[in-house]
Amino acid sequence: MVDIGLLSLQTLKLFLFSATLYYIYVYLLKPALNFVYMVIHYHGFPSYPKNFLLGHLKHFWTNFPFPNDAASVSKNVYEAVNKIVAHNPDESLSVAWISIYPVIILTGHEAVEILLDKKNLKKPHFYKFMGLGDGLIPSDPEIWKVRRKLIEPFFSTKKMKDHAENMYQEMESFGQRLHDEVGKPIDLVHQIHTSTLNIILKSATSIPLDDSMEDKKKFTKLVDKIEPNLCRRGTNPFYYFDWLFKFFEFGRAYNKTNDMIAEFINHILTQRMEIFENALNEPENQDFIHLLEDKIDEQGIHNELLTLIIAGHETTAVALRWILFNLGNIPFFISTLIEKLYKEIIQFFPDDAPIDDMDKIKQCNYLDQCVKESLRLNPPVYGIARVLEEDIMVKDKRLIKGSVVGVMIEATHRDPKVYPNPKKYDPDRWNPENASKIPKAAFIPFGYGPRSCIGYRYAMIELKIYTIQIIRKFSLRSTRPHGSIPLKADITLRPVEPLEIIMKPRNHN
Ligand code: HEM
Repeated sequence: MVDIGLLSLQTLKLFLFSATLYYIYVYLLKPALNFVYMVIHYHGFPSYPKNFLLGHLKHFWTNFPFPNDAASVSKNVYEAVNKIVAHNPDESLSVAWISIYPVIILTGHEAVEILLDKKNLKKPHFYKFMGLGDGLIPSDPEIWKVRRKLIEPFFSTKKMKDHAENMYQEMESFGQRLHDEVGKPIDLVHQIHTSTLNIILKSATSIPLDDSMEDKKKFTKLVDKIEPNLCRRGTNPFYYFDWLFKFFEFGRAYNKTNDMIAEFINHILTQRMEIFENALNEPENQDFIHLLEDKIDEQGIHNELLTLIIAGHETTAVALRWILFNLGNIPFFISTLIEKLYKEIIQFFPDDAPIDDMDKIKQCNYLDQCVKESLRLNPPVYGIARVLEEDIMVKDKRLIKGSVVGVMIEATHRDPKVYPNPKKYDPDRWNPENASKIPKAAFIPFGYGPRSCIGYRYAMIELKIYTIQIIRKFSLRSTRPHGSIPLKADITLRPVEPLEIIMKPRNHN
């Protein structure tokens, strides 16, 4: 017998054989058995009629097996999920089948509380397709816990005062730009997106508001591709594996977009470094990067900055477009609603008074109701998803460990049991008496539970400052009724057609 040190060849062979068996069991057989168990378990759950092998894939990917363009995938996703949810009379729990892979869809405040209140839940694999690396939104619980603590001070009450000043400073030039758009039907999509990007860049990196506007415009165009790209990648199982994905034309375009975005972030970080190197004194106000420097590695800082920029401007921009469209849609016979809003606004912020006093903004109660109602009716984020760490019960049904579970925000916000006549824009739902009857988990534009939006106060202040500035200067009329605008589901729930409004200067009424 050959001896190799302490081990005989026989023992070595046995060891290798057992190790191979172990790895086959742990990494192939066990996941495969779990998957089969999951497919069988969800087989009888409420769902829309499906194909045995493709599931609902052809509803999402209508051109199967040929490529769909990204825009139509997002529109198909919105329509398909609505169909699947509506097919179940109770609507609170359904299953969407991506081929043979089940994704559980929940709606309603009871389900939201059960799922999203849980700690340490991972986000599903498709969150990674946003290209944010280990940034706060997709990160796993261990990294998330450390990073969330580091980032929280960026949204402290003291910092919010600085942020509000930046916002108003941007608002002044934004307001000037609006004067070129009066009297004609316009969706302010580009103006608003560039403006919200400008604000978050200033807050996060100290880069002056009027710097590199052309670069910023180019960046918003790149960012615009992130969401449809995620949607297209997430609904096609062939695009899941990086090694395979890069061989597709779409894979190469997707990687190129992400590389260009990374380049922009690097450019921003260099620009910021130059600003601080040239500054005579250490600035009093520490920005977002200061909070992370020397605490996490460079790639981490890059990912968190990218996450903050992406999460912090796109959602707010979509929300603001809907707020203006909803306010412009109020029929003239209830225009007392707009008058009430206008009067409240000019009481606290007459003429050109700066809109950066947080206490006064807080006192605008009716403004708060109008903004909330728009976030309810048109939540900017479409859905939230998690992977279950343990079995949970929802409405007498057991959802099993390892399942991907999504919560639909729009459907939750339109539950007629909580919101009578749910498709109506009615800010009075949020007056103190009515609001006290709305369960907390029935209003989730910013998510719910430990991983809810870290920037919600920032977003609410920003939305209010924009709305104040626009309403005190212009009267608004939308060119189309609310329900006539088709939607598509990327990460944000975006209108497919323009949200046109006509602005009229108030002093010309
Ligand atoms: C109207 C505007 C906004 C809406 C509707 C919104 C919505 C959301 C939602 C629904 C989530 C939860 C995602 C999930 O559970 O998977 C979230 C998370 C997040 N949001 Fe926002 N958001 C808005 C504005 C902002 C702003 C202004 C910032 C930053 C300046 C921001 C930064 C983030 C970050 C970093 C997360 C991840 C939080 C975590 O996992 O700890 N968001 N947001």
